[in-house]
Amino acid sequence: MTMVERHLDSFKLVSKKSLIFFFSMTSIMFLMSWFFVLRSSSGPNFIDHKLLPSSKLFSTLEDSMFHTKIPNGESSFGNRAILVDNEDVEDESEASKSNENTKCSDGNDFLLKVFMYDLPSEFHFGLLDWKQDGKNVWPNVRTTIPGYPGGLNLQHSIEFWLTLDILASEIPNAPKAKTVIRVQNSSEADIIFVPFFSSLSYNRNSKPRPHEKKTRNMILQEKLVKYLTSQEEWKRSKGKDHLIMAHHPNSMSDARMKLWPATFILSDFGRYPSNIANVEKDVIAPYKHLIPSYVNDDSSFESRTTLLYFQGAIYRKDGGYVRQELYYSLKDETDVHFSFGSIQKDGIKKATEGMRSSKFCLNIAGDTPSSNRLFDAIASHCVPVIISDEIELPFEDVLDYSEFCVFVRTSDAVKENYLINFIRSISKEDWTKMWKKLKEVEHIFEYNFPSKDGDAVQMIWQAVSHKVPAMKLKLNRFRRYSKSPPSIDKDLKSINLPKSFW
Ligand SMILES: *[C@@H]1O[C@H](CO)[C@@H](O)[C@H](O)[C@H]1NC(C)=O
Repeated sequence: MTMVERHLDSFKLVSKKSLIFFFSMTSIMFLMSWFFVLRSSSGPNFIDHKLLPSSKLFSTLEDSMFHTKIPNGESSFGNRAILVDNEDVEDESEASKSNENTKCSDGNDFLLKVFMYDLPSEFHFGLLDWKQDGKNVWPNVRTTIPGYPGGLNLQHSIEFWLTLDILASEIPNAPKAKTVIRVQNSSEADIIFVPFFSSLSYNRNSKPRPHEKKTRNMILQEKLVKYLTSQEEWKRSKGKDHLIMAHHPNSMSDARMKLWPATFILSDFGRYPSNIANVEKDVIAPYKHLIPSYVNDDSSFESRTTLLYFQGAIYRKDGGYVRQELYYSLKDETDVHFSFGSIQKDGIKKATEGMRSSKFCLNIAGDTPSSNRLFDAIASHCVPVIISDEIELPFEDVLDYSEFCVFVRTSDAVKENYLINFIRSISKEDWTKMWKKLKEVEHIFEYNFPSKDGDAVQMIWQAVSHKVPAMKLKLNRFRRYSKSPPSIDKDLKSINLPKSFW
């Protein structure tokens, strides 16, 4: 499609005769490319799936995941989620379904070459209480996968899944999607990956201990900046080709001001100045949903008896006034569930039942524009109603959210009866279409290990790969004057003054 579109742009320049020739050539090429796409998707892919369950490596990986050590207390949810995700690796219908959905989005066709720093383990798996064995800073993912703590921690566990996927790329013939490959020579890499588990560092270590001026989280960020800025890879690009994960809105709050040329993986831009993070440079990743996937959902418009479901805190900063307004306008509607309190351990069960028995699930801006509630709604096949003008949605370059979400402007939502009338006006047919679409796209928001074609891990790599050409452009522009004396190098000066990227 893009090929045809690109050629459409140049219509004006070409004479009519050559245009016809041109068009038929493109059509032929387009048809041929489809032929190859179809051939390759029914060829090696098919064989891969057949081999999957019997592969020796797969069983070791599976074994290792079932024997994952569960760290103390809080953790059980996280580890259970890993087990649940793993179970349906063998599910043939799931695998073929996700395959079908990714046909148009490149799937296995491209490889992203990633150089990953061997950061000391205190920056990553050490935070999961994994003890380094000798010199190797990485666990052997064939045999050991340290458990990520559960509960609310898990929603920002993106750092964990991406790092595992890179490590798994070093295992020959690993039963995983093959978008990413780790390379040892950074000159050959498309991106330089910084494996700092910054969300976990924030969640675990951001409370000051007595008699300590700086939190462990602040100290780790300082150490990271020192480490990075002394590396050859950073020096030669000033970080422009680096990828840093900061999914928790409060993570990296100190270091990001120094590491801003890098591409960040974020949940939204709510707490970032636009020169530090923006949609051109950075990648928005979905939260990991806390509510379990709704497998074999045979519910219907009628069987979901609650019209509209909302669970969340009421009085919040910033965007919070909308919640309050909506609460007062909806509290007397008998088929609307509106209750307060964030989803905690035992609340998960109630929220799961609530979302699975509701037609629509409200997603209102809180103290940040995004929240994991949207992804919980998707996992429950409860059509999200999004009231959050500033929300950034993951993978929106390839996903049309209007096919499975309802968007309402904040200024409309607070008008009397606007929201309830709008929701009630959505027909059974329209709702069912969106519900079906939710079931089609839900795998896009799943984090898996080993990762699968078209899952969240692969979609993030795909989104990162879309940033690579712009990174390279910036890098090459940056190098224009690299051989001139530094005093006249304009670009160099701007490094300390984050005004704009271009
Ligand atoms: C790394 O790759 C670059 C570019 O391909 C090459 O010139 C260099 O020799 C390689 N370095 C090593 C240590 O292999």
